[in-house]
Amino acid sequence: MTDSKNLFTRLSHNGRAGTHVYGFVNPPVHRGSTVLVENMAQRRTNQARRLEQVLTYGVAGTPTHWPLENVIADIEGGTRCQIVSSGLAACTVPLLAYLGAGDHVLIPDSVYGPVRGFCDNFLSRMGVTTTYYDPCIDAAGIALLFRPSTKVLYLESPGSHTFEVQDVPALSAVAKTHGAKVLMDNTWGIHHFQPFTHGVDVSIQALTKYVGGHSDVLLGSITVNSDPDWERVRSTSGQLGMYASPDDCWLALRGVRTMAVRMERQEKSAIEVAQWLAGRPEVKEILHPALPGARGHDIWKRDFTGACSLFGVVFQPGFAPEKIEAVAEALQLFGMGASWGGFESLALPSGTMPRTAGSGDFGGPMMRLHVGLEHPADLIADLDQAMKRLHANEP
Ligand SMILES: Cc1ncc(COP(=O)(O)O)c(C=O)c1O
Repeated sequence: MTDSKNLFTRLSHNGRAGTHVYGFVNPPVHRGSTVLVENMAQRRTNQARRLEQVLTYGVAGTPTHWPLENVIADIEGGTRCQIVSSGLAACTVPLLAYLGAGDHVLIPDSVYGPVRGFCDNFLSRMGVTTTYYDPCIDAAGIALLFRPSTKVLYLESPGSHTFEVQDVPALSAVAKTHGAKVLMDNTWGIHHFQPFTHGVDVSIQALTKYVGGHSDVLLGSITVNSDPDWERVRSTSGQLGMYASPDDCWLALRGVRTMAVRMERQEKSAIEVAQWLAGRPEVKEILHPALPGARGHDIWKRDFTGACSLFGVVFQPGFAPEKIEAVAEALQLFGMGASWGGFESLALPSGTMPRTAGSGDFGGPMMRLHVGLEHPADLIADLDQAMKRLHANEP
């Protein structure tokens, strides 16, 4: 249930230490495995309340984890949140929570790559069948893919590297008629997309990205909006021994305080950079849902309140992939690296992602850009000099 105050206010005030740490503003890092009890009655009471924020054993969470859980649940408009060790764990734990031998799962072709690896290897060994679908599929199309054994519809919107915006309410409504759970990777949208008002049951975030915000922490969150979903996610996470370090939670909580401010600036800069690129003759298309006229813009405008600073560039088909790599290598301010959402800009040629549902052809070599907190004029100048490599004789 989202607090009615503005997000900026909530990110500043929620998840504070309260009065129990000598008046300090921030919760301290609580490290510990054993939790001592006064007597066996207290131990039994604590264990019976394992689904609540009660100290039972370090792996079940501490007063450093709880404020972060509460802030993320609030951002996403859910009731409860489980923090896990990485964004990838936040993807895999709910899949394990709702799938078993003989079940079927629907996964978008544009899914974050390691989730595909998890489905093709781990889930398939468990006897779970995966169907990859075109992320732009409509309600009628997805309805045809449901089987009696389909237990999960997985969404990621916009999709990894190619930024397809999914019609989440329409697809979720179909899943509901088939009794399937809707899991969504909401890392790109963060606070700009409210998953539970669009039919999602379980929302996944890689907190590693904008929440951490400084490229120095790995964490994930799984947020739900009902008691049965909490029971399922929480107990699966516990049975798997999932845990997140309190030091990392503390860093993420620090990141939360400035997240909205950083993102507002980065969103604006990314649009400026994307618009400059859109005007270049070497560029065929910009994959950024917030740009008017871009693919997915109408659904984005309907469902999102803003954008993050990660988008794709499709170059003209005449350029060999090696030329795109040469551009990435020539950039001075954009580092070449994978994990986005930090304060620094990144560029990564991205045309090699595996696709099996025939949805990956954008008609030219691609690069993914993450725009950080540098000034957009400097980033544009950097792109301008690096793109000269497209016209050089050697790659
Ligand atoms: C959309 C998306 N989901 C999940 C993840 C996984 O996050 P982590 O790096 O924390 O495992 C990533 C990482 O890049 C991602 O891009």
